Amino acid sequence: MNSKKPAWSGRFSDVPSEELLAFGASLSIDKRMWRQDIAGSIAHAKMLARQGVLAQREADAIEAGLQQITHQIESNEFEWNLADEDVHMAIERALTKLIGEDGARLHTGRSRNDQVATDTRLYMKERTLAIARALNALRLALIELAENNSSVIVPGYTHLQKAQPISLAHYYLAYSQMFARDFKRFVAAYEAADWSPLGSAALAGTSYPLDRDFTARELGFSKVTVNALDAVSDRDFLLDAVYAASVCQVHLSRLSEELILWTTEEFGFLQLSERYSTGSSIMPQKKNADFAELIRGKTGRVVGDLNALLVTLKGLPLAYNKDMQEDKEPAFDAMDTIEQCIKVMTGMIAGLTPNEERMKAASTGGFMAATDLADYLVEKCHLPFRQAYEIVGSVVLSCERQGRKLQDLSIDELQGFFAGFGRDVEIALRIDKVVEARSTEGGTSSKAIAIQLEKTKQAYSLDEQQLALL
Ligand code: ARG
Repeated sequence: MNSKKPAWSGRFSDVPSEELLAFGASLSIDKRMWRQDIAGSIAHAKMLARQGVLAQREADAIEAGLQQITHQIESNEFEWNLADEDVHMAIERALTKLIGEDGARLHTGRSRNDQVATDTRLYMKERTLAIARALNALRLALIELAENNSSVIVPGYTHLQKAQPISLAHYYLAYSQMFARDFKRFVAAYEAADWSPLGSAALAGTSYPLDRDFTARELGFSKVTVNALDAVSDRDFLLDAVYAASVCQVHLSRLSEELILWTTEEFGFLQLSERYSTGSSIMPQKKNADFAELIRGKTGRVVGDLNALLVTLKGLPLAYNKDMQEDKEPAFDAMDTIEQCIKVMTGMIAGLTPNEERMKAASTGGFMAATDLADYLVEKCHLPFRQAYEIVGSVVLSCERQGRKLQDLSIDELQGFFAGFGRDVEIALRIDKVVEARSTEGGTSSKAIAIQLEKTKQAYSLDEQQLALL
C-alpha cells in the first residue's frame, strides 16, 4: 500500500485530500498518551499469544518492537508523522515498519474504539491520582497555616460586610474542607476511569477468544467493563474528572479572590511573598497578586472545558462517533490547568505573612460584637432575642451617628438604652471573648478549632492512606 494512504483505505479508490486528513487528525493532542497506547498493545499481544491467537514468537516480536519505539520516543528519535491520524495509527505504523508482518497482526481482535477508550482511561487514572496528590499537599499547607494562626483574629464577612470576628485558623480550615471534598471527587473520577474496556472491540465484542481479565490485570485496571456497546461510547469518566476540576477550580478562584482583596492596601490583612507577586512596568509602587488573578481567570477555561465536553456528548448515538475525538482537548486542558493552579496556590499560601495588627483593628470596628451584645441581654436579663436585637440596633445606630465603636460606650451610656446592662458587659464586648464565645462544634472558639483541626488532620491522613493504596 502507498505509505501516504491511510491504513483503512483498503475499500477506497480515492481518499480525502491532505487538508481533510489533517482536519480529521488528533495526533497533536493524543500523542501524549503514547505510553498508555504502547502498554495497551503489549498487554493485548501477550494475551493473544496466551490464547493461542498469535504465536508466542509473534507476540514477542511485537513487544520487542514496541519497546524499541518506547526508547525512540523517549530519546526524541521517533518520527511523529502528521499524516498519521492519531497516536494509535502512528505507533502501529511505526511498529509494522520496524518488524514487518508481525506488527500487522497486533490489531487482531481489537478496534481503535476500545483502544482509545483504554488509553484514555489509563491516562486519566494517572492524572486524577497526581491531582489528588497535589490536593493533599494543598490541604497540608492549609492545616499548617491553621495551626500557626489559631490566635490571630480576623473579621468574618457575609455580603462582604463585616459580620463576626473569627480566628484566622477558622478561615483556613474552611478551605481545607473544600479541598478535602475535591480530593474525594478526584478519587471518584479515578475509580470511574478504572474499568478496562479492552476487548470490547468495535462495539459488539469479537469472535477471537480474548481474555479480558488478563489484559485488565496487566494494565492495572481493577474491573472490566460489562457491556461492549457502552464501553466504547462511555466518556462519563472524563466528565467526572472535568467536573471535579471545575468545582476545585471554583474553590481556588474564591480563595484567590480573597487573597487579592486581603493583600490590597485597603485591607492589608495579608502580604504575599515577593516570589508570588509581580510589579508594574509603569507604576513603581505596585505589588500585584497576578498569580492569584490568573488562577481566578483560569476558572473560565476549566468550566468551559466541562461545558464543551457535555455538549460534545449530547445527542451522540451509540456507539463510537468521530465527535468523540473532541473529548481529549478539553479533558487534558482541564487536568493541566487544575494541577498547575493547585500547585501554584500551595506555594503561594505557604508564603503568606499575616498582618495581625490590621486584622485585629478591623475586627474591633464595624460593630462585630453587636450579636454578642444582644446575646448578653438574652443571657443576663432573659430577654427574648428579638427584643435584645431591637435594643442593640438602637445602640449601633447611635454609635454610627456619632462615629463611635461599641467598645467606646460607657456603662452609663449603655444603661441609657437598657437598664439591665451591667459592668460585665465590657468583657462580653472584648473581641477575643466574642471569638471564644462561639464554641459550638464547627465554631471558631479555640476549643472548637482544636477539634476541627483534629478532625481535619484525621481525614487528611485517612485520605493519604487511601492514596497510597491506589
Ligand atoms: N483518534 C480517535 C479518537 O480520538 C481514535 C478512535 C478512532 N476510531 C474510529 N473508529 N475512527 O477518538
